[in-house]
Amino acid sequence: MSGIYEKNRSGGYEQNISEGYEKNVLRPKNVWEEFFADKRSGGHRSSAEEFLSMEAREKLFHLNGGKTILDFGCGAGELLVYYAPEYEKTIGVDFSPSMLEEAGKRIRERNCKNTILILADDKTVWDRLDSPLDRITAAGVFQYLTYQEIDDFIFNASTYLNKDGKIVLFDMLDPRLYPLWKIGLFSQDNSCKKIISKAICGVRNTISSSLKRRPRDILGYSHYPGKIKKIANKNGFEMICVQSMYYEYKYHAIIFRS
Ligand SMILES: C[S@@+](CC[C@H](N)C(=O)[O-])C[C@H]1O[C@@H](n2cnc3c(N)ncnc32)[C@H](O)[C@@H]1O
Repeated sequence: MSGIYEKNRSGGYEQNISEGYEKNVLRPKNVWEEFFADKRSGGHRSSAEEFLSMEAREKLFHLNGGKTILDFGCGAGELLVYYAPEYEKTIGVDFSPSMLEEAGKRIRERNCKNTILILADDKTVWDRLDSPLDRITAAGVFQYLTYQEIDDFIFNASTYLNKDGKIVLFDMLDPRLYPLWKIGLFSQDNSCKKIISKAICGVRNTISSSLKRRPRDILGYSHYPGKIKKIANKNGFEMICVQSMYYEYKYHAIIFRS
């Protein structure tokens, strides 16, 4: 079954993207939910299918099997459609109706009959699940959650994860590398003048956004791997950190039971 579905009372899934549903169940409530409310792509370095398929291959390698998977913050389904053929059951979750609409189109085009989409966020998703999962993953999403929200997410995820299950958080922003990338230090065209001017711009942006109480940039917050590991340990998991293959300033957190 594919499309945008909500679980009904009798345990089946029914298509539910009516205006009333969106208004009643999920109203934009934080700055990120508003930001993504009309977005239609996951902002990958390239939207070419060739690049997305390489990215997905790297992610499938780290996911390393399992039969059921939940892709939290699935966005427009750019990776989800590559996960679907490798799993018996695939669930995509996102709080952006426009992103889910795009994901719906993609899964129909690819005929991913084992995939359902759920409109929910990090707090509401858990009530929508009816069976344990082998993999809970997210790519480029946790930068929109605070440490406390990540802690709550991992705690909730642990209650829905099978014994050998894994939580795999792809493309976390590394606070030690991200500022360097932002000023162009990893770029091939990195003259001293350009780096200094980008650094000054960055400082100016940081001050102005903190005065306006707005996020510093659209990529969200960066999170130290050590802190994520502590959160994982607190919830009974081990964590290993792997450098992202396609983004120099991002890492993957692979979280599994001790
Ligand atoms: C940068 S996009 C990545 C999309 C997708 N994972 C990919 O790699 O193509 C981030 C996605 O996370 C979703 N998102 C962010 N915070 C969320 C939250 N708290 N609950 C549900 N979705 C969220 C956004 O709506 C957006 O679709």
